[in-house]
Amino acid sequence: MVSVREMTLGETETVVRYFHGATPEFLEMLGVDPTRLPRPDAWREHFAREFALPAEQRQAVFVVWIVDDAIVGMSSCDKIVPGERANMHLHVVVPNLRQRGIGTDAVRASADLYFAKFSLKRLFCEPNAFNAGPNRTLQKAGFRYVKTHMTVPGPLNYHQAVTRWVLER
Ligand SMILES: CC(C)(COP(=O)(O)OP(=O)(O)OC[C@H]1O[C@@H](n2cnc3c(N)ncnc32)[C@H](O)[C@@H]1OP(=O)(O)O)[C@@H](O)C(=O)NCCC(=O)NCCS
Repeated sequence: MVSVREMTLGETETVVRYFHGATPEFLEMLGVDPTRLPRPDAWREHFAREFALPAEQRQAVFVVWIVDDAIVGMSSCDKIVPGERANMHLHVVVPNLRQRGIGTDAVRASADLYFAKFSLKRLFCEPNAFNAGPNRTLQKAGFRYVKTHMTVPGPLNYHQAVTRWVLER
């Protein structure tokens, strides 16, 4: 059973380690350009600044996915327009815990948190079109397919084909 809650500043090390510990092939599957990853110390300083801000001024919200008291995954929510829309991201950070149903449950619970926190009408997710895991997981978690298009989906990404999924409430 997975539980979901907001990430603490100390837990943002999970983000830094996950991306900086990844192989080039894994980052390619995610659509991440390794040259666009902030250096670890710059990233830590960024998180410290973000977490010092009042909640409504932060660019993003991060959540951890917990099983048996351990962090097994994470999500974040950005491009937030309160009362309207936002985008989410999803990662099971422990490789051997993937494809066991954690992602589907944790995406549902993370979406509930984002909808409640920002009074959203729509929550989008735009994984790389060739990355089967998130595309299948989003559909299973109740997201609806919108379209496949070419874009640079975020500051860490290269130009790529992404699939846009939406959850509406
Ligand atoms: C994407 C991710 C978060 C999904 O979490 P998960 O716990 O593996 O997902 P689930 O076990 O709930 O699986 C949900 C569905 O997706 C399918 N799926 C998951 N990973 C898959 C993969 N690599 N290839 C094919 N199907 C996959 C599962 O089979 C399941 O479908 P089914 O029940 O119809 O068989 C996780 O696989 C992950 O972290 N992957 C690496 C990072 C990543 O790609 N993140 C997305 C960035 S946008």
